[in-house]
Amino acid sequence: MTAPLVTRVAKADAASVADAARVLAAGGLVAFPTETVYGLGADATDGRAVARLYQAKGRPAFNPLIAHVADLNAAQALARFDADATQLAAAFWPGPLTLVLAKAARCPVAELATAGLDTVAVRVPDHKVARDILAAFGKPVVAPSANRSGHLSPTTAQHVLADLGGRIDLIVDGGATPVGIESTIVACLGEPVLLRPGGLPRAAIERTLARKLADTPAAGADDAPLAPGMLDSHYAPRTRLRLNTRRVESGEALLAFGPTPAEGAGRAKSVLNLSERGDLIEAAANLFSQLRALDAAGASAIAVMPIPADGLGEAINDRLARAAAPR
Ligand code: TXA
Ligand code: MG
Repeated sequence: MTAPLVTRVAKADAASVADAARVLAAGGLVAFPTETVYGLGADATDGRAVARLYQAKGRPAFNPLIAHVADLNAAQALARFDADATQLAAAFWPGPLTLVLAKAARCPVAELATAGLDTVAVRVPDHKVARDILAAFGKPVVAPSANRSGHLSPTTAQHVLADLGGRIDLIVDGGATPVGIESTIVACLGEPVLLRPGGLPRAAIERTLARKLADTPAAGADDAPLAPGMLDSHYAPRTRLRLNTRRVESGEALLAFGPTPAEGAGRAKSVLNLSERGDLIEAAANLFSQLRALDAAGASAIAVMPIPADGLGEAINDRLARAAAPR
């Protein structure tokens, strides 16, 4: 273990953006907001910086990272775009979509960041601070969610500090992230495959491609998992989750959804509502911070009301199922 670092926290502005670019160039670690969640950035081309990043997160090194770039041009230096990928990039970048593509011939991303795969995940984020940092740095930045491995993804700078304080150099504070759930990941290596539901709903992608997306082969299948990071217990609060319930037991906390109260809500230790008006976009934005808050309530379990499966509901239900997985 290396000596603890002093983690600086700076409001997002021209000075902190320039500072972030300097820290990245020196091989350091910078957390910054994207439209989805906060990312922990390192120079994607610097294997030692990437190794430091894995260490700070306590992340298994077989779990590859997403390379963030400023625009499609920069992405094309990293990866080969087939017709589907070109169409998706044109429709949704910048935005909460990650494409897993064949590496370009001279892809500069460090082998460690792609876990030795011959594919690379790329994304152009849609957040002013992220874009400013990428533009100032001028090279690809690998950025997993800025949490310790196995913890919930951070949607505020305070979450990042609580998880990674003393382990990273700088946190650029740009306020709460608007989407609140990680990017949707689609592999374009032939028939397009949905590897991870996320901030861009499946239906929008299927409309653009004018066909259905195949789903990830079941986890545990013989062939190497396509999105190796999709470990079942990836998004884990400490408190047990009880999903799809309209009834709260005594001692439990309640994660509500919609205007109809759960039975026994009055006896809950603590109640938060993802969206009183039943809006899935609002619910996604609140998901991780409300799970964190309820996790701290000292409840015997967190009862979670049913969430519809359409739109962003697919990604919300995916994260809830992972958070509830036994570990
Ligand atoms: O919204 C997001 O995507 C956020 C922000 C910071 O951009 N980042 C994020 O990164 O969620 P991370 O590292 O927490 O999740 C990346 C996922 C992992 O499940 C990883 O296994 C998968 O992407 N992945 C990365 N490269 C891959 C590849 N070449 N093939 C398949 N899956 C890949
Ligand atoms: Mg993550």
